[in-house]
Amino acid sequence: MCGIVGYTGVQGASPILLEGLKKLEYRGYDSAGIALVNEGVISIAKVTGRIANLCEKTNDGKDYPGTCGIGHTRWATHGAPSDNNAHPHLSNDGRFAIVHNGIIENYMSLHDELTAKGYHFESQTDTEVIVHLLEMYYKGDIKKAVIKTIARLQGSYALGVICTEHPDKLYVAREASPLILGVGVSENFFASDVTALVSYTRNAIYLEDGEFAEISPEEINVFDCTLKPIEKKITRIVWDIKASEKGGYEHFMLKEIMEQPRAFKATIAPRIKDNDIVLDETELTKEYLESVNKIVITACGSAYYAGCAAKYTIEKLCRVPVITELASELRYCDPLIDEHTLLIVLSQSGETADTIAAMKECKSKGAKTIAVVNVVGSTIATLADHALYTWAGPEIAVATTKGFTTQLAVLYLFALYAAKKLNNIDEERYLSLLSSLKSMPKKIQETLDTNSNIHKIAIKYYDNKSMFFIGRNTDYAIALEGALKMKEISYIHAESYAAGELKHGTIALIEEHRPVVALCCNESVMEKTVSNIVEVKARGADVLALTFKGNSKIVSVANDVIYVPKVETFFSAAVEIVPLQLLAYYVAKLNECDIDKPKNLAKSVTVE
Ligand code: M6R
Repeated sequence: MCGIVGYTGVQGASPILLEGLKKLEYRGYDSAGIALVNEGVISIAKVTGRIANLCEKTNDGKDYPGTCGIGHTRWATHGAPSDNNAHPHLSNDGRFAIVHNGIIENYMSLHDELTAKGYHFESQTDTEVIVHLLEMYYKGDIKKAVIKTIARLQGSYALGVICTEHPDKLYVAREASPLILGVGVSENFFASDVTALVSYTRNAIYLEDGEFAEISPEEINVFDCTLKPIEKKITRIVWDIKASEKGGYEHFMLKEIMEQPRAFKATIAPRIKDNDIVLDETELTKEYLESVNKIVITACGSAYYAGCAAKYTIEKLCRVPVITELASELRYCDPLIDEHTLLIVLSQSGETADTIAAMKECKSKGAKTIAVVNVVGSTIATLADHALYTWAGPEIAVATTKGFTTQLAVLYLFALYAAKKLNNIDEERYLSLLSSLKSMPKKIQETLDTNSNIHKIAIKYYDNKSMFFIGRNTDYAIALEGALKMKEISYIHAESYAAGELKHGTIALIEEHRPVVALCCNESVMEKTVSNIVEVKARGADVLALTFKGNSKIVSVANDVIYVPKVETFFSAAVEIVPLQLLAYYVAKLNECDIDKPKNLAKSVTVE
């Protein structure tokens, strides 16, 4: 989704803005632009397409001098991708330029009001109303003009403003869209994402909803919507810069797949102390857990599927009903939730709009909330009663991989932790499961090693218009995620079905050589899935089975078999997904797709 950056300091701003925008490319965008204040004038460069075009247009920023400026990558919502619709947008009097992430829901009525007052619009965006409101409200005091402007906006925004009359200052405001200020020496920054900041500073201030800041090279002042000053703490960004680079891999996605053993270990190891699971962040006491009569897991996309996979583990170990619900549905279904509900929210980015809304809805009904989040200081982490971070490091590829497996890691820890607190597990079983969990990083590594030649299987399957993924229980949850990986990066139609549902309709779609990926790692339903494999084979399907090493039952019924090491069934989702990520990767590569930045997709879906 859109990304914003801003710089004010002693250096030329353009190269810094362009670098920052490059770091935000992974979020997905279709046009970009920068605006600089220099010698009392704002100059703007905008392009449709890649940042490389913007670098070319601006001569790598050299043709756009100035030490204070703003930049934007746009992911079109209102109005097609075009130079006119790209940000920054300029006021009619040329005094203000703005960049904006989010959606202004009441832009049509504001547009009509401003048009009636004589303001001229250059774009079809919702954003442009903001810059004209600023011009309308400016009577010599820019802070007041910004405050009056944002008071008129409904929706979400992370807003960056420059003004010719304050040539070394940036003005920013936030509502339901991430905004981080970077604190430097004689220079300061803002960005929608820490990846754009870490090359310059590791000191950050996380703005919260309703906050507004004035940024000069020497200082940052934060205010509330009545211009009352707010003390903010500076947080140290711990992300490794190298982690946001490709490190020799052709794509971020492949690098991130390979990082999973380390990421899983980094997520569980600090929380296991002398055979005790320590989730200090949560204060989940025995008394509290006993008062919980249901656990609701909500999220979007892959994060939702992580919840679906872990549901089986949590429910079986804790004997508490676990309901998984898509955040985009939960937010509108008036859910039956009260103070006896524990809500677990999953989000890699911590900024997904639907997930935030679902969480707010459930909190308002009294649920206690735990957020499993990768991005430190993100909105979801901040809103939750307790944040349990996945220590995956920055995930740059749009298709999540290590974000997903580390979400599983946290949920597995939670399941064991809660089961023990609730006395639902005896010591021997607990220790045995804990030991299995501790061995998972090694098992994930073994899965990667075993499947190092999966590209050969991809060659057999890449040239297809449609594929099916089937499984039961956890295998089904991973079939859902495997199919999502396939469709989002290779653009092949990939559908997942609970294997038992085939006969209720889907089997009509099975024809000669239709690929069916069948997941068979769950022994309790193995025979049933094998029967389904036989049924689709009988109708001509080519079956690619995924099972654990040593399972000989599959060889005779499948065309090809992918093996994963045998692990405790409660945790098997974390190994099963790995070859499916690799399969999707190599199929996408053979189809020459833009793997890290698939068309139409954004890394962080910050609008509904
Ligand atoms: O940042 P989040 O985990 O909240 O994102 C949720 C989904 O948008 C995300 O998982 C999406 O489905 C990915 N493209 C999957 O690879």
